[in-house]
Amino acid sequence: MTCIVSVNGLGVKFGEFWAVRDVSFSVEVGQIFGFLGANGAGKTTTIRVICGLITPTQGQVTVDGEHFERGREDAIKAKVGYMSQKFTLYNDLSIEENLDFAATIHGISKADLRRNKEELFDLIKLNRAESTLVAQLPSGIKQQVALVAALIHQPKLVVLDEPTAGVSPASRASFWELIRKLTTMGKTVFVTTHYMDEAENCDVVALMRSGELIAMGSVPQLKENTFKEQMYNVTPSPLFSSKDLNELKGLCKVIEPCGIHYHVLLNAGADFHTMDRKIDVEKIQPSLEDVFIQLVEHGGG
Ligand SMILES: Nc1ncnc2c1ncn2[C@@H]1O[C@H](COP(=O)(O)OP(=O)(O)O)[C@@H](O)[C@H]1O
Ligand SMILES: [Mg+2]
Repeated sequence: MTCIVSVNGLGVKFGEFWAVRDVSFSVEVGQIFGFLGANGAGKTTTIRVICGLITPTQGQVTVDGEHFERGREDAIKAKVGYMSQKFTLYNDLSIEENLDFAATIHGISKADLRRNKEELFDLIKLNRAESTLVAQLPSGIKQQVALVAALIHQPKLVVLDEPTAGVSPASRASFWELIRKLTTMGKTVFVTTHYMDEAENCDVVALMRSGELIAMGSVPQLKENTFKEQMYNVTPSPLFSSKDLNELKGLCKVIEPCGIHYHVLLNAGADFHTMDRKIDVEKIQPSLEDVFIQLVEHGGG
């Protein structure tokens, strides 16, 4: 495996505040690398360093062999396609004008632009005229065109900061299909998301909390490391009272509300038999959401 991003002891300080503290990880070529964490965890700040947009206070970042160096940010920028969290495209420009603009920023020729555009429109199966104003596009298609803009200079690494925020569930699913296609084209994808169902699609997931990297691994590894015991889905009966809830809590080392259910781990030696008629119990595999809640909100494993 070849490493395309290598982050070593990264620290970023704003004034007296460390937004990112001693973060180290690497991303292999062809991976979908999911970068997760609550708001303010330091994801976007790390991304801005990887994209060559801000200078790290401490540590080193290498992207495809290029070290971050003041004055040499362009070397990194050429290798990275960046879709930022809020800004995606100019609403008052057409699809074509947005892409021309992105191409100009990266200094790519008209011929390359035409060729890349064709290939990328093919990828997203664009069915709108290039002269369509971006403001007139549904949010799902807008995100796809934004992805095309981020890829127009054929970067090896694509960095997507919450690409599906505010996009409908169906469009989120098609966006993830695109992400998978990108990896089959040899691209590496670094992506942040708040949606845990999406994060299950990642080859490797890294969890950030308060500027620190608190866990990293494949999705199965993270689940196994976080929950060594069997997890159960507990469904309360209609008569389940707050007293019953206290009894249930007494049996469990972990209990998380999950819709109308609870996801629980039993205390050593405990079982559910005293609550037979008050709850339904089934064995389940923990979801990434369970892992996330356990690690990020309770700080435990
Ligand atoms: N330019 C900045 N100046 C001061 N504080 C900042 C700046 N950018 C981010 N921060 C702070 O750093 C922390 C991490 O922010 P950010 O990296 O955007 O988190 P995330 O993307 O995980 O939500 C937050 O507390 C945020 O307020
Ligand atoms: Mg962010």
